[in-house]
Amino acid sequence: MEDAYIIKGGTPLHGEVKISGAKNVALKVIISALLFDNEVLLHNIPRINDVYELLHLIRSVGGTAEFKKDSTVLIDGRSVRTNKVDFLHGSKMRVSFMLFAPLLSKFKECYVPNPGGCRIGARPIDRIIEGMKAIGIGVDYDSGTGYYHAVMNRKPSGSYHFSKPSHTGTELLILIALLGRDAITLENTALEPEIDELIRFLNGSGAAIKREGTKITIAPIQTLHQNEPFTIIPDRNEAVTYATLALATKGDIVVDGIQKQLIQTFIQCVQKAGGVFQELKNNKLRFYYSGELVCHDIETKPHPGFMTDWQPNWAVLMTQAKGESIIHERVFENRFSYVEELRKLGAEIDFVKTPVENPMEYFFFNFDPSKKYNQAIRIKGPQKLHGGVLNIADLRAGATLVIAAFSAEGESVINGASILERGYEDFVKKTRALGGEIKKM
Ligand code: EPU
Repeated sequence: MEDAYIIKGGTPLHGEVKISGAKNVALKVIISALLFDNEVLLHNIPRINDVYELLHLIRSVGGTAEFKKDSTVLIDGRSVRTNKVDFLHGSKMRVSFMLFAPLLSKFKECYVPNPGGCRIGARPIDRIIEGMKAIGIGVDYDSGTGYYHAVMNRKPSGSYHFSKPSHTGTELLILIALLGRDAITLENTALEPEIDELIRFLNGSGAAIKREGTKITIAPIQTLHQNEPFTIIPDRNEAVTYATLALATKGDIVVDGIQKQLIQTFIQCVQKAGGVFQELKNNKLRFYYSGELVCHDIETKPHPGFMTDWQPNWAVLMTQAKGESIIHERVFENRFSYVEELRKLGAEIDFVKTPVENPMEYFFFNFDPSKKYNQAIRIKGPQKLHGGVLNIADLRAGATLVIAAFSAEGESVINGASILERGYEDFVKKTRALGGEIKKM
């Protein structure tokens, strides 16, 4: 199977790139569509490996889930006939645990495997399970089988306060709360815009979900029904990757389709680092290089902070910036898999210990004082990168390695293309159209 890219770097990338539908909206909307009492049509679904995997998973429980044409997907959950999610496919994808909601709605009892996804930390779902229990769902985990068993003996009710926000956790509890006896309140929820898109989808189909800051109130529904197709917004993570590609290769790229406010924090950091940003008409954003970049420190935070998914991209940009930049990762506990790989291309990056006053609060994962963490790096720039043989360990690290390879002089081989293609549609086609020398083998 072709699973590597060969990239000849050193050429500035130029042109315009159309941003595809947002992965982290599409996946959740597809799962939510299984709650509907009719067929659901979704436009602008990206053709990426995570979507193919999820459609397959839905078919494996008996649902209809297929691309009709281009980027339109049809979902019909009425034919779902089993309450047990396939172990192999379910445990590959983190979002598979969101199937709790449609399966509980249909069968009142279900079995879902411990979720997988990119290996960017332990990624437990303890808060999510705690939230399910708080609103009345019985959940047990069987470590022998690797399955969660959930039971809904009565309609959910009550409220839940997240000790720390969780993006997918907020989304799953919203879906379960729709099955409630009366209105359910969730507090200290995540503020990611992808969650608000899910709410927009559900409210457009009969739900009454209200957000007031981090508090979300969900009224119970009789049924969800689609009257007109729903269109997924463009992917802010893909947009940031192409913006970084422009600056790191000393090029000039117009990113088409992304609302400026969705990547506002990234834009501010680009400007502080000396990159040029220009807002054009119709959600077109231009990023270009216009002289030396300078170091700029970041720390990742949930929205509206600097997003954890952008941090690996920022690291490669900082290899091209003058001075020493520090990156602090606060959201996931293992998001520096790319460091060793970038070093192979000549990047000077060290792990650093920077004192944190209250780590239990500072970090968004479950900080364990008895464990050793590598949560901060220092990057010295600018460095001339050269080609090398690299391995992708997770999705966003994959984007980082290809940006580095395009910025480097010479040829690189990057293994693990299928991991990058979990989240980036038409990556080879899009980067070639920008002048990139890339082929898959
Ligand atoms: N966490 C727990 N327990 C829980 C839930 C979360 O410890 O019960 C921890 C996580 O391990 C993590 C932190 O809390 O350290 C935040 O996790 P969160 O639940 O908010 O993240 P997620 O829902 O697993 C989603 C996206 C990620 C994105 C983050 C942050 C999807 C499918 N994934 O993850 O996207 O980085 O929110 O916005 O929506 C990606 O697209 O590459 C990706 C990893």
